[in-house]
Amino acid sequence: MNASETSRLRERLNRAPRVAVLTGAGVSAESGVPTFRGADGLWRRYRAEDLATPEAFRRDPRLVWEWYDWRRQLIARCQPNSAHHAVAFLERHAREFLLITQNVDGLHRLAGSLRMVELHGNLWRVRCLEEGKTTENLAVPLPAIPPRCDCGALLRPDVVWFGEGLPPAALREAFDCAERCDVFLVVGTSAVVQPAASLPVIARRRGAYVVEVNLEPTPLTPLAHESHQGKAAEILPALLGLDSAFGDPLGVPHSTLAGPGRPC
Ligand code: APR
Repeated sequence: MNASETSRLRERLNRAPRVAVLTGAGVSAESGVPTFRGADGLWRRYRAEDLATPEAFRRDPRLVWEWYDWRRQLIARCQPNSAHHAVAFLERHAREFLLITQNVDGLHRLAGSLRMVELHGNLWRVRCLEEGKTTENLAVPLPAIPPRCDCGALLRPDVVWFGEGLPPAALREAFDCAERCDVFLVVGTSAVVQPAASLPVIARRRGAYVVEVNLEPTPLTPLAHESHQGKAAEILPALLGLDSAFGDPLGVPHSTLAGPGRPC
């Protein structure tokens, strides 16, 4: 019996007004975006303390920007996969919905997700160190490294580095949603980085139905009502009864999954 045959997720979604989805790097792996801690993960090849901390940026902004420029060039060649499309489909059909992503690659937005919070920022935005304002920057490759603001000050990637606080509004919305949701889906995260890893724990404690999709077991697996091991782009569409090619609903009447979404 495959995942969708044993899963109670769709039955739960049919009667669950509020749905939250937490995603991590694993959801973008099949699009070609490297994960952080997987076999060929970024933190197995690079030292986070040299590239993803405010101290590293103060020490050598050029080195940090060369790395982020490399990541932007790589991600610019990637497209959303069926897991991203399945999440966007769920948003369109859940009564109340919030996507909470740890990913900075922007692929969820490209797949059509709207009701979302980017807990760790977005590498297609830059922030002026002097004025603090953020702007979208899609230049690939960056014309100048390190890039500078019109005011002349250094720009930094608008992402959350180790040792930094998460955007307060995004954090509040994510925790509020975890406390109120009826179904909490967790897709492609190692569930080791806080505070994101606490969200499914809170949701479970508050009575939500927790479903995990991951290539392998994580610290969250014992806590989930269902844990499906395998590739997100295959399993997530199947769990939602979608054709994994493009996330089209396979015989799922639009009335199921209860109509257009509102914020969680
Ligand atoms: N389908 C499903 N799961 C997958 C797939 C896939 N195709 N490929 C990998 N995974 C799983 C791995 O088994 C692992 O549990 O995705 C997870 C990726 O974990 P990490 O690399 O640790 O990424 P993530 O959980 O998003 O990291 C959290 O840590 O480095 C910081 O800020 C960074 O947002 C990131 C945060």
